[in-house]
Amino acid sequence: ANDGATGDAAGDGGGFARVGDIVHEGLRNLEYRGYDSAGVALVGEASGLTVAKRSGEVDNLTVPDVADAALGVGHTRWSTHGPPTDANAHPHTDCTGDVAVVHNGIVENHEALKAELADHEFTSDTDTEVIPHLIEEELAAQRGEGDLLNAVRAVEDRLEGSYAICAVREGEDEIVVARRGSPLVLGRDDDATFVASDVTAFLEHTRDVTYLEDGDVAALSADGVEIYADGESVDRGTETVTWEADAAEKGGYEHYMRKEIHEQPEALRQTIAGRLDVDGGGVDLDVSFPPGFLADLEEIQIVACGTSNYAGRYAARLFEELSGVRATVEIASEYEFGAGRSPDRTLVVAVTQSGETADTLGAVRRANAAGARTFAVTNTLGSTVTREVDDTAFIRAGPEIGVAATKTFASQVATLTMLAVAIGRERGALAAADARPVLEGLRDLPGAVQQVLDNEDAVREAATEYGDSGAFFFVGRQLGVPVALEGALKLKEISYDHAEGFAAGELKHGPLALVTPDTPVLAVLTDGARADETMNNVTEAQTRGAPAIGCVSAGEEYATLDVSLPVPDVGLVEPLVANVYLQLFAYHVANDKGRSIDKPRNLAKSVTVE
Ligand code: AGP
Repeated sequence: ANDGATGDAAGDGGGFARVGDIVHEGLRNLEYRGYDSAGVALVGEASGLTVAKRSGEVDNLTVPDVADAALGVGHTRWSTHGPPTDANAHPHTDCTGDVAVVHNGIVENHEALKAELADHEFTSDTDTEVIPHLIEEELAAQRGEGDLLNAVRAVEDRLEGSYAICAVREGEDEIVVARRGSPLVLGRDDDATFVASDVTAFLEHTRDVTYLEDGDVAALSADGVEIYADGESVDRGTETVTWEADAAEKGGYEHYMRKEIHEQPEALRQTIAGRLDVDGGGVDLDVSFPPGFLADLEEIQIVACGTSNYAGRYAARLFEELSGVRATVEIASEYEFGAGRSPDRTLVVAVTQSGETADTLGAVRRANAAGARTFAVTNTLGSTVTREVDDTAFIRAGPEIGVAATKTFASQVATLTMLAVAIGRERGALAAADARPVLEGLRDLPGAVQQVLDNEDAVREAATEYGDSGAFFFVGRQLGVPVALEGALKLKEISYDHAEGFAAGELKHGPLALVTPDTPVLAVLTDGARADETMNNVTEAQTRGAPAIGCVSAGEEYATLDVSLPVPDVGLVEPLVANVYLQLFAYHVANDKGRSIDKPRNLAKSVTVE
């Protein structure tokens, strides 16, 4: 929001004309958060409301040159509902074209709201589009007496889920914003007021910022900002951002990887949002299978690479336990459908956060050629895998920049667990009462992960203590095995040290020959991982001098451990929570060595070659 007072003495297109430039530049500054489409809405007294939006990168967008634009909002999209197309890009408008809205988050009840708006015309596949139409209805109900601020307040009461909303309306000189669960930050300079999901968007204009809190609604004009909570005006104070723009993109963290490790509670909340019915013992992944398919299902084949393969291994045990169906996991590059199997009674699940991994796509194509039903679990809407399978469940972890997968592993396992429950319940193999503890574990997962993150210093100390060791062993049993494999992969791919993951019982069948006082053993000692037997194997290594670091279920104690890291009690997902310690261990060992954390040598974020 700009008062247009800035003269053009500098010939920099100051004044109203710069609103579009500020918004476009802000979107460029946010592009690291992921993009697949972008758009802007500009409001000028004479020009009214002007909207431009299209799929693709921010620079693909041509911002209209609106000379009298006093307000502007923009959005770069990371799709959660609806593929990246021009129509699905934000801003979204109402039927009149007078109201434009950009939104971050998920409107969980968008389908029910859309049904209540049956006389409205929708032009996109998104959840967001219900918001401008709800505003339109509220404005109409106020019979022209109302204003955008009161309309947004009324709409908020009808939304379920998470949102950061910016709304503008032709003829009004305010941007109205509201937040619940997705961040919004405000700033001001001499003649403009700024709002964004991340301070990076306008850091070049001001470092004095105000963070809105959940439930806040604010009206921004060129003259300033009014913030309301529960209908009362509030003062949220101001703080000065000391980060540089590059650091700000990382939210003040030194590396994307550590930022994304710490984003896991929020990512997991998005992953499970609107999908758990804990009391009813069910899930809603918004996927469907042909009638009778699940009843006749004989086998689930999981295909994936790297970290995603380990997420698949974690889930394979849960598929068998919860859905009563045999589940196998294959490294995608090695996968063949296999003889003696019935394609029409086999579900092939491809787990791939990027949705572009060539090895995994190759496996999907072989499964399709064999006539099996295929399914993708991915983080990326519009990715190639989504176009080559019969159905897709999105993990909704948000963009992951660091090459080392962290938050997407947790969100993949959570999504696969929900899929296992959905299949088990639909097959009648899982009673609601037996599903409930699993769903309670998923519900409690974000908080449990936060408790581990709050204990980061203990891991940092262990990394400093043992980081210069020659090699590292990661061990576990049952659900602890995929976590041990993942922990070893994390360490080797960013520290370049040798690390290996084992089923704990295998140590004595050979690898124990490698054990010396310079080979720390990290163990998963939680529920779902046969902790006592695993500890026996750890002791075998300790008697040969190896230090031992254990991720231990809350309330348990193994006195001989050199380091004991407590894991909150969340049942079957405890090994998944223990994994956060292993991510932090890998990060701090590599960081102490000054490694290129976010872009490790020889590696790429998405391996699109076979
Ligand atoms: C994990 O940290 C690596 N980035 C790598 O193993 C990755 O998990 C693998 O390449 C699979 O990627 P995808 O999930 O995008 O298919």
